[in-house]
Amino acid sequence: MPKKPDASNAPGSHAISPQDETTGMSRGLASYGDKGFSLFLRKAFIKGAGYTDSALSRPVIGIANTGSAYNPCHGNAPQLIEAVKRGILMAGGLPMDFPTISVHESFSYPTSMYLRNLMSIDTEEMIRAQPMDAVVLIGGCDKTVPAQLMGAASAGIPAIQLITGSMLTGSHRSERVGACTDCRRYWAKFRAEEIDAEEIADVNNQLVASVGTCSVMGTASTMACIAEALGMTVPGGASPPAVTADRIRVAEHTGAQAVTMAKERLTIDKVLTADAFENAMRVLLAIGGSTNGLVHLTAIAGRLGFEVDLKALDRMGRETPVLLDLKPSGDHYMEDFHHAGGMATLLRELKPLLKLDALTVTGRTLGEELEAAGPGFKQNVVRPMSHPIYPQGGIAVLQGNLAPGGAIIKQSAANPALMEHEGRAVVFENAEDLARRIDSDELDVNADDVLVLKNIGPKGAPGMPEAGYLPIPRKLARAGVKDMVRISDGRMSGTAFGTIVLHVTPESAMGAPLAYVQNGDRIRLSVSRRELTLLVSDEELVARAKAKPISPPTAERGYRKLFLQTVTQADQGVDFDFLRAPSLQGIIPKSE
Ligand code: FES
Repeated sequence: MPKKPDASNAPGSHAISPQDETTGMSRGLASYGDKGFSLFLRKAFIKGAGYTDSALSRPVIGIANTGSAYNPCHGNAPQLIEAVKRGILMAGGLPMDFPTISVHESFSYPTSMYLRNLMSIDTEEMIRAQPMDAVVLIGGCDKTVPAQLMGAASAGIPAIQLITGSMLTGSHRSERVGACTDCRRYWAKFRAEEIDAEEIADVNNQLVASVGTCSVMGTASTMACIAEALGMTVPGGASPPAVTADRIRVAEHTGAQAVTMAKERLTIDKVLTADAFENAMRVLLAIGGSTNGLVHLTAIAGRLGFEVDLKALDRMGRETPVLLDLKPSGDHYMEDFHHAGGMATLLRELKPLLKLDALTVTGRTLGEELEAAGPGFKQNVVRPMSHPIYPQGGIAVLQGNLAPGGAIIKQSAANPALMEHEGRAVVFENAEDLARRIDSDELDVNADDVLVLKNIGPKGAPGMPEAGYLPIPRKLARAGVKDMVRISDGRMSGTAFGTIVLHVTPESAMGAPLAYVQNGDRIRLSVSRRELTLLVSDEELVARAKAKPISPPTAERGYRKLFLQTVTQADQGVDFDFLRAPSLQGIIPKSE
């Protein structure tokens, strides 16, 4: 067939506008010292994959593909990518999917948090390196959505989040179960010898009934809700389970929306504003969200120059009740939340407390999207403000000499009987010490003691693992003890529950007061007064520090060296210091 003359064959013609080197295939040319040649070469290579000039002249939409055999929480990535591509093509764009690191909680040694920042660097640099006018971020498992939002915030182009969606619930002997609150509950029963090895093996087959993310209000669900509250997903993008038609429709819609964002240059900084972060904090508090959500939100905000004021957050918590009745704070699962209308139902209840003018990825404000969502309907998963699950926000911020930089407790998942408590410290020096002694019959421990675990902070472990949910010592578990006050500089899974103080800042590996707690010291926790006090004098603590000085851990080489040299504390999101924005843009939430 004779070749038709095509002006778009000329180098430089594969952008949205032929002269514009900041769009389409002309973006970010590899450096050969001759831009015309660079584009000519790029065009030659991509045509090797069979693309036409017509396709290459469209807005280019990158799709960050985090599908991996090691990540069943992203097991629907192929179907999502197909639907995103359909949406992009229908809207006149050119989809280009590309791989990035994928991080799953159970397949990340030593801990997924150690790799979150690496994934954010990968995401940022691949967005920068490859030509794209907008990017669709496919994430779901705990660290992936924060890593992608951190990376995209730093890269600065239009970006939209697509959540993989929650797994379905399973059934064990007619009881509904789902990862991972029920994982912990059944494991605790097994440890307490309430169920046998055969039954725990049966449970193991039922906890994860399909691909998708954990089905309770753990970190993955929390980050899905936060992403929608930030305005970073299409409306209704947080709640559809992974294997549903609704999730696929969200994916198609996301692809189409990405093309509009590219054309309108709706860059991520226009969406991730102080108001958007404030809305996300409200939602975090009102859903009884994972404490990890706060660390991640702090890290994302830090990429744009916003610092989180923990005291202001605590004040916000006092006027933001928990409304969402999901495990571990309540009774339901994510699929129930979706059937109840998802985030629109929650945001409608929270409306008087929200910044409704915050812009979303649709180009409309949160308030406009809420209007468009309609009036709502009768359901029993999202409570009205007048009848909350818990009268205050899920997370309370504690202060005191044991945590000069603050600590947090998920009060909505704690035992009310232990929230005002003084007890004797039973100290574990690190995770290995805990593993060695916690189940020993020789351990000197009583139910009203306070378990203290050191060296599981950002540098200490390293990577701030989710080891803050210390198990109840076996001899107490056997005697029926279900909860104790537990304190550490680590994190805990959002699916966990109990009277657990986390994120003690600074961490013990930095030589902070937590490092000098000894067996037998008395510790006072008062959640009502937001107090965490080590009842030891300042003079004694100074003397202990002098007797046993502590140097922060170091490493010889590689990523571990970079991590230990640059990771920040929990109050700065555990991000690397050199990845945070160079200048301060504001404090969030703003004090009213
Ligand atoms: Fe992936 Fe829970 S392990 S969301």
